[in-house]
Amino acid sequence: GKYQEEALILANEGVADTTWRLVLECPRIAAEARPGQFVMLQIREGTDPLLRRPFSFHRIHPERAVFEILYRVVGRGTWWLSQTRQGSRVSVVGPLGNAFRPPDRPGPVAVVGGGIGVAPLYELLHQLAKPSAFFGGAVDIHFFYGTRTAAEMLPESTFSELNLPVHRSTDDGTAGFCGTVVDLFRRVLEKDRWRPAVIYACGSLPMQFAVAQWALSRGTPAQLSLESLMACGLGACLGCALPAPDPKAPNADRYVHVCKDGPIFEAGSIRW
Ligand code: FES
Repeated sequence: GKYQEEALILANEGVADTTWRLVLECPRIAAEARPGQFVMLQIREGTDPLLRRPFSFHRIHPERAVFEILYRVVGRGTWWLSQTRQGSRVSVVGPLGNAFRPPDRPGPVAVVGGGIGVAPLYELLHQLAKPSAFFGGAVDIHFFYGTRTAAEMLPESTFSELNLPVHRSTDDGTAGFCGTVVDLFRRVLEKDRWRPAVIYACGSLPMQFAVAQWALSRGTPAQLSLESLMACGLGACLGCALPAPDPKAPNADRYVHVCKDGPIFEAGSIRW
């Protein structure tokens, strides 16, 4: 189902440089949300409604009727969102889009997040790390997490309860490996000589492109969340259209829309 709810804001706080976490009590949406899906949230400027914007689920707690989103303050809309106080309400529509799928085969799993792309991967990591109804069991997980600089990185304590290796990188070398998260991912896999059974990734388009190239060249399945391309989330702006091979005529192209057909795509289902 898809619901519209007036969610109660339980917390709205800065967690890293320009990065905020919003905790919402929203029973029907929290009950059905799956990792990788998103909601449309109506941001208000004072009392005036602005456009609805898409945000993925960062953490889902159905037992408490709560979910969380993680967002970057990048412009007027998200600045207003960061000013919204605990105890007020916000209109939410969801859950929308498709979800990450469990691995098709056993073996280690690589999760690769760039910048705010960590948002949907955090819930996925929880579901992979703990036996859950959705993924059905614990697997060997390696998490690769890169930001531009250390100040943008979520604190280490965010990941401690997951109890898994976190390989960190920053573009400027202020924390972890100096370079991109895809450079780090390639380096660790080549040094330790293992192949993931599946890669899950979310981040900027160039980062996802690099992950897709690596996965396709090695025949490794990869599920990419292309949510960063969504502006309206409703099929109205066409800003999220991408060329894709037509399954009925593989040499022909068709267009897919991240907001309607995604946001999760197999690496091979997009014309990169
Ligand atoms: Fe606007 Fe997909 S995000 S059409």
